[in-house]
Amino acid sequence: MAGLRMWYLAVTVLAVSTISLRGFVPAVHAAKSNFCGTFVEPFQFLCTERRMHSADGFELLLHRIGGGTATDSNAAPVLIMHSEFLNGDSWFQFTDAADKLLPLLLVDAGFDVWIGHERATKWSHGHLSLETTDTRFWDWTWDEHAQYDVPAYLEYIKNVTGSPVHYIGMSQSATAGAATAANLRSSSGIRSMTLIGPNIYAGDSNSVVLAAWAFIFGNIIDEANYENGYQSGAFNFTTAFPGVTSINGQSPLALALEVISGPNCCLGTATASFTNGWDGTNSFKNLLHYQQGMRSNTWRRFDYISADGNTQAYGGPSAPTYHPEDISTNIPILVVYGGNDAMAPQAGVQLLLSRLRNAESVLLPNYAHFDLLWSSRRTQDIFIPILQFLERHK
Ligand SMILES: *[C@@H]1O[C@H](CO)[C@@H](O)[C@H](O)[C@H]1NC(C)=O
Ligand SMILES: *[C@@H]1O[C@H](CO)[C@@H](O)[C@H](O)[C@H]1NC(C)=O
Repeated sequence: MAGLRMWYLAVTVLAVSTISLRGFVPAVHAAKSNFCGTFVEPFQFLCTERRMHSADGFELLLHRIGGGTATDSNAAPVLIMHSEFLNGDSWFQFTDAADKLLPLLLVDAGFDVWIGHERATKWSHGHLSLETTDTRFWDWTWDEHAQYDVPAYLEYIKNVTGSPVHYIGMSQSATAGAATAANLRSSSGIRSMTLIGPNIYAGDSNSVVLAAWAFIFGNIIDEANYENGYQSGAFNFTTAFPGVTSINGQSPLALALEVISGPNCCLGTATASFTNGWDGTNSFKNLLHYQQGMRSNTWRRFDYISADGNTQAYGGPSAPTYHPEDISTNIPILVVYGGNDAMAPQAGVQLLLSRLRNAESVLLPNYAHFDLLWSSRRTQDIFIPILQFLERHK
């Protein structure tokens, strides 16, 4: 833990403009964000921004890096999706002086790289009709990423490039990407999938994971809320720990991310910037959805607990289950996971691997969850194997 140092990025706060429309004040944002200027253009790479909305109204930003020029119009598109609590910035933080950034490494290797941002995060947080103070703005879990957001990104990129997309997802985005592929049951929009630390099954290490989560979320997600429905609205790390700005010089979020991810072997110097009110936010419902999966060691849509609630949502008394076997065998999958990961425990990932029909894997025995993103050895341990996998399936 002592090795964890904060690396604050100088991020100019996104200029937010709100406009009145038919009596409500939707969260509509400035025409262009400063993501490209802050993270990509300093490296002399091209960067363009696309803004779209999910079918349920959430703003989704997409950044295309280095692609779309005449010389690389045949480059295979790659969509890179970040971990929960974070945003697309997390792919642009150096962990070590000799370090590489995954998006730029892939552009240099001839890929057409797109960075996505999950709904209700730093860069994608508008909505066509809902304000963030409305609990309906927070009425989603990772399953809505799979139902709406990931399909919208994949379809958009395929429309623009004419090619199916190589999908790379870390943690929650690995779960959402795999669920998207299971829902599609076809490979028409997806060329390959790379799942980094997929937190889909708990395996037999439930107690370790639950203990870690209980430490962080125990006072918020308690048994009563779990059994009697769910607390709605926004989970906000800053307000969940009022008055706590630093613990031993670290932000509570940095500390929490490390605790819930298990013992770290090789966490480098970068962690999230945590300078924006959107870092560390999530929905209560999503956290509960994770709890449900861990407790039951199942991969299911959100369980409304009551037969009535599930029937209203899904047309049947129980929450539908996702099956890894539903993912098309025409989609090659690379799973990268850590032996010390408490969020995506080894036994759970191995259960997933036993059920995927076209997967290969890289096990990094000493890695904990956030080492998979910020290890000082990530270039040789993770990025190069991903690049080799993509080149084999170009
Ligand atoms: C993709 O193209 C189709 C056909 O033109 C269009 O209907 C659809 O809205 C497009 N999807 C996205 C996400 O832009
Ligand atoms: C989270 O809480 C902090 C502190 O109250 C606040 O500044 C920030 O805007 C909140 N974030 C969101 C997305 O509401």
